[in-house]
Amino acid sequence: MNELLDYIEQKKHDENRQGEALNLALNESEYKNNKHFYIESYGCDMNFSDSEIVASILAKQGYGIKTNIFDADLILVNTCSIREKAEQTVRQRLRTFNQIKEQKPSLMVGVLGCMAERLKSKFLEEEKLVDIVVGPDAYRSLPELLHEAEGGQKGINVLLSREETYADISPIRLDKNGITGFISIMRGCDNMCSFCVVPFTRGRERSRNPETIVEEARDLFNRGYREVTLLGQNVDSFKWKGEGKNDDKEAAILVNFAQLLEMVALVNPLLRVRFSTSHPKDITDDVLHTIAKYNNICSYIHLPVQSGSSSCLERMNRTYDRDWYMNRVDAIRRIIPDCGISSDVIAGFCDETEEEHLETLSMMDYAQYDYSYMFYYSERPGTLAARKYTDNVPLETKKRRLAEIVEKQYQLSLQNNLKDIGKTYEVLVEKISKKNEAEYCGRNSQNKMIIFPKGNYNIGDYVNVYIESANKATLKGRVV
Ligand code: SAH
Ligand code: SF4
Ligand code: F3S
Repeated sequence: MNELLDYIEQKKHDENRQGEALNLALNESEYKNNKHFYIESYGCDMNFSDSEIVASILAKQGYGIKTNIFDADLILVNTCSIREKAEQTVRQRLRTFNQIKEQKPSLMVGVLGCMAERLKSKFLEEEKLVDIVVGPDAYRSLPELLHEAEGGQKGINVLLSREETYADISPIRLDKNGITGFISIMRGCDNMCSFCVVPFTRGRERSRNPETIVEEARDLFNRGYREVTLLGQNVDSFKWKGEGKNDDKEAAILVNFAQLLEMVALVNPLLRVRFSTSHPKDITDDVLHTIAKYNNICSYIHLPVQSGSSSCLERMNRTYDRDWYMNRVDAIRRIIPDCGISSDVIAGFCDETEEEHLETLSMMDYAQYDYSYMFYYSERPGTLAARKYTDNVPLETKKRRLAEIVEKQYQLSLQNNLKDIGKTYEVLVEKISKKNEAEYCGRNSQNKMIIFPKGNYNIGDYVNVYIESANKATLKGRVV
């Protein structure tokens, strides 16, 4: 492991230096081709991370970035298909873009991401103002597609790839704080959860070369970043068998997720490491022991349960049952006693009975989640569930069950946060609090947001905060 890290240290990071130059270029108002793009992202962290790859590809073409939509020559929207509402939001935004385009006919509009992949050329038929449609694995072709579109032709590339990981592209960070950054470690998903559109929009699972991941983490650290989040739809199934060998069933796994975590943790003890998302069927004790071993790997696991009922989980094709999930929670509590746990929950999946719903509520009590992302089921065309089951839980029932789940989570969050009063936590100072200029906010290892008076500290510092009060969303305290 150390040999590999030394090797990476020695390598000259041309890509990274290029990245710095591009960042400088982006800060200048005029650059090379005199054109500017504006990008808006929806959906999961991976989509936001992809937008940073797209920014890098465009910057190499001489595009500058604009944060004001009216100053742009090209508007890009990186879209999400996970629920119908996510798609409706994008359609609404397109109407706004259309109004801008009416005033400025030279304006180009591009749709990227999961909706582009799901709808393909249908998008160009449905939304006349759109000039280019680009799927998540086709961003390298953006320059040619833009060129085509400038010539008056609509550009589309929605080919999915088995290899593309954009490993050699230095993302241009679009986040503002310069302290916390995302690193994509894999793409796609090979699970077939019956409700989920992701395997169709993102294609087959593939892991990125770990050397390039460590390199990216090191580069971020050297630029002042103090936290990286390793991203994948199912990070626990990260596996690297070597360049060109990852499809080879016989080849031995050279780096698994636990080992990758360790490699990134060793970049620097001052660099916090987070990751998302873990899949209950794949998270191993090995990963848990690695988290416990390194102080800079955060004690926080996002472990989506979806449902607390074995029969519902079976229809969801999640490939674990209630007992298995409870066993994973027990393992987390045993190996990392101070670990924060959060979840995703779906209310009102096909055929869900009242008993099954109650099992979800009791599972939430069992796991004592600190936080949950909660949704009611939204049928997605083409998924296993859409083909096999009927979306038969009435909307009213879905909403009522969701409200009960949300209420349960509020109680749990409040209870858990109240238990933190009187404790002292190490916090990474992330930004000035939105509500009060005299306060900072940052998170503890367990991912809880903590607010405290600024004192003489700076963004990017680590401080110890004594917790004095709490509500269901945040903790408040003072630096000790
Ligand atoms: N890979 C992650 C989830 C990615 S999608 C995992 O396996 O946990 C994020 C969340 O959106 C899912 O966990 C699920 O709770 C929710 N979701 C996905 N499809 C949905 C649908 N059709 N209706 C409602 N919620 C959905
Ligand atoms: Fe979707 Fe399941 Fe893959 Fe998560 S693991 S992205 S829910 S198919
Ligand atoms: Fe949405 Fe695609 Fe992410 S569907 S949740 S943006 S992978």
